[in-house]
Amino acid sequence: MSERWKEYLTRISGQDAIGPPDYMYPVTDEATDTRFKQQDPNKHTLEQTLIAKLLDQDWTVAIDFGCGTGAHFLLFDQHGRSDELLIGVDPDCSRAARAREVQLGRIESLVLCGGIEILENIPGELSADVILCSQVLGHVSETQARRIVQGFCQILRPGGHCGIAVPVIGKAFKEDPAARDWEAKGDFTHQVNMTLSPGDPSYREQTSLAEFNRYADHPVPGMLPVRSFLIPDFPDLSRLTLPHALDDLPPTIASLVDGLFIMEEAFIYSIHIDFPESAYPVGDAMIFLRKG
Ligand SMILES: C[S@@+](CC[C@H](N)C(=O)[O-])C[C@H]1O[C@@H](n2cnc3c(N)ncnc32)[C@H](O)[C@@H]1O
Repeated sequence: MSERWKEYLTRISGQDAIGPPDYMYPVTDEATDTRFKQQDPNKHTLEQTLIAKLLDQDWTVAIDFGCGTGAHFLLFDQHGRSDELLIGVDPDCSRAARAREVQLGRIESLVLCGGIEILENIPGELSADVILCSQVLGHVSETQARRIVQGFCQILRPGGHCGIAVPVIGKAFKEDPAARDWEAKGDFTHQVNMTLSPGDPSYREQTSLAEFNRYADHPVPGMLPVRSFLIPDFPDLSRLTLPHALDDLPPTIASLVDGLFIMEEAFIYSIHIDFPESAYPVGDAMIFLRKG
């Protein structure tokens, strides 16, 4: 299977970006890493542990969708043997170019600049065993999110696995000054001003869902559009140990995957503390899905 993939990808890789034209992710990894360390220093370690769990199974072809600069590529390498193929996809060509430079010891990687169109156009005889989509769905428009999940279903072999990491939020976040216009009935959409520190009153600026969709498709430099998916029964922070297993998916994700995937497990793996006395539930979840 991986030889046929390589043939196909080599043929299309000479083309210009395939997907959202001129897309540039609005913030650097360096800026986001700094902010996330301020909010939760353990986030990276737990995220890596959960991704390793996804990759700890037999696979020949894996896709890292929205791979960015290839921050997770070494995990694929550690969990691969020698004949595996990792396909990285990202619509920001400068980030895809950085991912191409990540040196892997065991497996082979091919990185394409583009978006969901790449998966939508892949010939029917090619399939993947596992897909990682880490921290992408919380930064794309509703239309893109639906196409992305459908594209994963199209490309995964039956029984194949998918790991999706997304920002999540609990209803109590409505007490946060940044959320004064939020009714806590659906997801919280906002822009994070990465030039400011967590806790600054303008760090999170609430937007409508329609505005979020527009910003996600056409980001403003320095401003990260975020859709935090509501978990209606968010666990009590004072008794929470991470990772925390969830019984149900956030409703928006449940509706995206309905009829396409079976939920295997889901975990809250990070809680973001914007400022020391903050008690508002906002963080990240990792969701493991299987194609039925
Ligand atoms: C928060 S970063 C996550 C990067 C990487 N997956 C990680 O976990 O470190 C979000 C990534 O999604 C990419 N992205 C944004 N819109 C996308 C879309 N419509 N389709 C695929 N990737 C997208 C961005 O270019 C960026 O690299």
